[in-house]
Amino acid sequence: MKAVRAIEIRGLKKSYNGFQALKGVDLEVNEGEIFALLGPNGAGKTTLIRILAEGLGYDSGEIRIFGEKLSKKTARFIGYVPQESIAYDLLTVEENLKFYADLYDAPKEKISQLIDYFDLPKKKKAKELSGGLRRRLNLAIALLYDPKILILDEPSAGLDVPSRRELWELILGFRKEGKTVLISTHYMEEAEALADRVAIMNEGSIIATGTPEELKSLVGEESIIQIEGLLNGLERLKDKFRLVEKDGVARIHVRTPRESLPEIVETLVRAGSEIRVIKIEEPTLEDVFLKLTGRGLE
Ligand SMILES: Nc1ncnc2c1ncn2[C@@H]1O[C@H](COP(=O)(O)OP(=O)(O)OP(=O)(O)O)[C@@H](O)[C@H]1O
Ligand SMILES: [Mg+2]
Repeated sequence: MKAVRAIEIRGLKKSYNGFQALKGVDLEVNEGEIFALLGPNGAGKTTLIRILAEGLGYDSGEIRIFGEKLSKKTARFIGYVPQESIAYDLLTVEENLKFYADLYDAPKEKISQLIDYFDLPKKKKAKELSGGLRRRLNLAIALLYDPKILILDEPSAGLDVPSRRELWELILGFRKEGKTVLISTHYMEEAEALADRVAIMNEGSIIATGTPEELKSLVGEESIIQIEGLLNGLERLKDKFRLVEKDGVARIHVRTPRESLPEIVETLVRAGSEIRVIKIEEPTLEDVFLKLTGRGLE
């Protein structure tokens, strides 16, 4: 059976005052899958999402939602959670949901269902909510008219680890209900934890698409040597190896770990490093990004 395409994009281009933010994007999201757009700041994720979910204009290309051209009519298929909250600070949770239910002409019984489902404090004002609860209120608003596609722009930005995990559970739950989910993220853990398929975006283009496993296999035969500690001298290794360093952890791509490890350690120790842990690791999506672009994701 041919998979139904929830979203199909061909050759999408968008520029802002001559600056090309999307340079001909092709993308297919299948019905019922969780699809992640993974990329660093400025990759064009929000631009792509705003075109789909807010009706932002574009220069050229074709977009179909369940086979129909993107239009006001297809908007009812899409629920959208932007990066910023759309809840009104001074209204309570319940008042916010009532307001948006009126706006979208959503059935009133949905309001109490969603309050229960997301375990929201209905009498609290939006401004009194924690980041995690606020994100849940925004999800509830996006689900008022039971959209088949849910689009979330950086859903876990600014959330602490427990709230992020809780949000992931909710997103996985949407897939169980048969919804199609498109998220954007900077976090490779998030893409790996949630997504059936991932598109890696960089500077307005999609540079690779596939399941996390397929993408990781692009790194090929390389191993990753992970070194933690107070690291000096990494720049001396950069001519010879691909590497990224973040929070005192360096990930160094090598073909032959046995042969390269002594040289790497010696270089770092000579430069005054205090190495705490060395591990040989499987590649992550960040390593794929590094391989494709020559730089890290942040
Ligand atoms: N309204 C705008 N006017 C002018 N330039 C814009 C506008 N919105 C975005 N851009 C530019 O387009 C590029 C893509 O931005 P976009 O917000 O889509 O990236 P992003 O992948 O969502 O980044 P981030 O991860 O930081 O949210 C950036 O270079 C940005 O500066
Ligand atoms: Mg963005």
